[in-house]
Amino acid sequence: MALWGGRFTQAADKRFKDFNDSLRFDYRLAEQDITGSIGWSKALVSVGVLNSIEQQQLEIALNELLIEVRSNPQAILQDDAEDIHSWVESKLIDKVGNLGKKLHTGRSRNDQVALDIKMWCKQRVLELQLSIRTLQRKLVSTAENNQHAVMPGYTHLQRAQPITFAHWCMAYVEMLERDHSRLTDAYKRMDYCPLGSGALAGTAYAVDREQLAQDLGFAFATRNSLDSVSDRDHIVELLSTASLSMAHLSRFAEDMIIFNSGEANFVELSDRVTSGSSLMPQKKNPDACELIRGKAGRVMGALTGMLMTLKGLPLAYNKDMQEDKEGIFDALDTWQDCIDMATLVLEGIHVNVERTKEAALKGYSNATELADYLVAKGVPFRDSHHIVGETVVYAIQQHKALEALTVAEFKQFSDVVEEDVYEILSLQSCLDKRCAKGGVSPLRVAEAINEAKQRLS
Ligand code: ARG
Repeated sequence: MALWGGRFTQAADKRFKDFNDSLRFDYRLAEQDITGSIGWSKALVSVGVLNSIEQQQLEIALNELLIEVRSNPQAILQDDAEDIHSWVESKLIDKVGNLGKKLHTGRSRNDQVALDIKMWCKQRVLELQLSIRTLQRKLVSTAENNQHAVMPGYTHLQRAQPITFAHWCMAYVEMLERDHSRLTDAYKRMDYCPLGSGALAGTAYAVDREQLAQDLGFAFATRNSLDSVSDRDHIVELLSTASLSMAHLSRFAEDMIIFNSGEANFVELSDRVTSGSSLMPQKKNPDACELIRGKAGRVMGALTGMLMTLKGLPLAYNKDMQEDKEGIFDALDTWQDCIDMATLVLEGIHVNVERTKEAALKGYSNATELADYLVAKGVPFRDSHHIVGETVVYAIQQHKALEALTVAEFKQFSDVVEEDVYEILSLQSCLDKRCAKGGVSPLRVAEAINEAKQRLS
């Protein structure tokens, strides 16, 4: 019989029990549930429900349980308890007998589960932030090693202007910086402890909830009991942060897949993160990147699922909320795996600098330079844009790059062009000129790399 069996004369239907039980996934909250229980036992001393000897006995038994759980968390799955809260309580009773039955005084599984999942989320935020930092550092060191790898930058997937592989790496450092800071923001808002809110109306024991919050590593206690037990904002915020970050990682993966294609051949991914085809012996597939891209879908799905679950719920706790767990567990596991996998992808990457340069030289990606050159010689930009457009059409017809045209050929379109045009059409000049903050000039990129290195060290 379940812990709440008194009101019931019949046991639950086996099919209902299987449907209702959450132990097979919420066993992952065991450590949090035990830590929270130790905190609650101390609060019960302050209101005279337990004496300090009883509390010590409970704390010792709970710590024993913690050690058991840490050494083999999966062992919990053998039990047929309804959920992790019932499991911890029943194991405690096994250890200390009747004294264990006092622990649930003034507490509900509603404030208990709200506490456990928040503690779990807080811990995961810190782990995710470490993984993000590691990936950022890897991107920065990859940038550092590829500052001279000139390649085409794209808009509309058309070669637009030359950039460097380093500049591309540093773009992802920025995205991840925002992901990291979103986690920091979310952490601040989830740093409010819900324990001591009871089932919904607050606990009938006058515990010092600010003290309890502090004991459990929170900055504050929550302010409203109804909200405390029904709030899952922190889960939505983490799923949202995860989704956006997965969008970043997916774009990273997609760029890599394109760069690694036979057509581009800009980078070669290491054997350690690619796989072969069972049929076509020549193939080396970018599976790690494809999976990062693919897994973005399930993380975004978890966000949508959680919002749908919450949107029509009346206050306060409803069993629907048990659906929060599998989504957040899977999404954060997936996100962390993808961050770590992106780091691994970068570890063995080889940039084909000859090939990226060759591509940068094609596609008239120095056309803007020619337009700027005409502007410098007094041609209004709108006119120069038009002149360069005509020049490019001519160059395409001649199968020549802009820098391969003779001055006489340029002069067909604008008579201001002189010998000095060739210098500004070089890749180096295209890069060097973009020297305002955030631009691709090698000096600026080197600065950005140094600045990021300091920030991330
Ligand atoms: N397994 C439940 C959950 O995950 C715990 C809270 C149950 N509370 C209740 N009143 N049935 O949400």
